Amino acid sequence: MTKVLFVCLGNICRSPTAHGVFQAMVDEQGLNDFIHIDSAGTAAYHVGNPPDSRSSEFARKRGYDLSPLRARQAIESDFYEFDYILAMDESNLMNLRALEPENYAGHLGLFLDFTAMPESEVPDPYYGGDAGFEHVLDLVESASLGLLEQIKRDLA
Ligand code: 4NP
Repeated sequence: MTKVLFVCLGNICRSPTAHGVFQAMVDEQGLNDFIHIDSAGTAAYHVGNPPDSRSSEFARKRGYDLSPLRARQAIESDFYEFDYILAMDESNLMNLRALEPENYAGHLGLFLDFTAMPESEVPDPYYGGDAGFEHVLDLVESASLGLLEQIKRDLA
């Protein structure tokens, strides 16, 4: 079983989008028994809340259901559970490095390392307009494909 944790700041926009998109790809390929997915935020502002309604709506239009997801905060013990801990931006990554145990043997890095798109960070759409949410979905769909290929190689 490979376990993947997607992390952003609030766990209501970017990381739930990654969670829902990647889950849909894993389900579609029948890999549900082999890949476990979760998401979290480095901040606690929105703990217990569902995804932002704009993220949910734009995801729904592309066929992804974010409705079961609830925000939680990333904690040190996540490093003992997850094989891949993937940050949406450099700030999230820096906050995760502060939680990372010295002996973490998994992969901590940027989610967009798994796409050939030119961006390295998924921009925070929270204070912006609709285009920001569509852009998050474009980046997340591309990186999810790359991540799934990597994990399938790991599992092979
Ligand atoms: P996320 O977006 O990190 O993609 O979930 C944000 C959500 C909420 C806030 C910031 C970013 N906030 O400041 O409340």
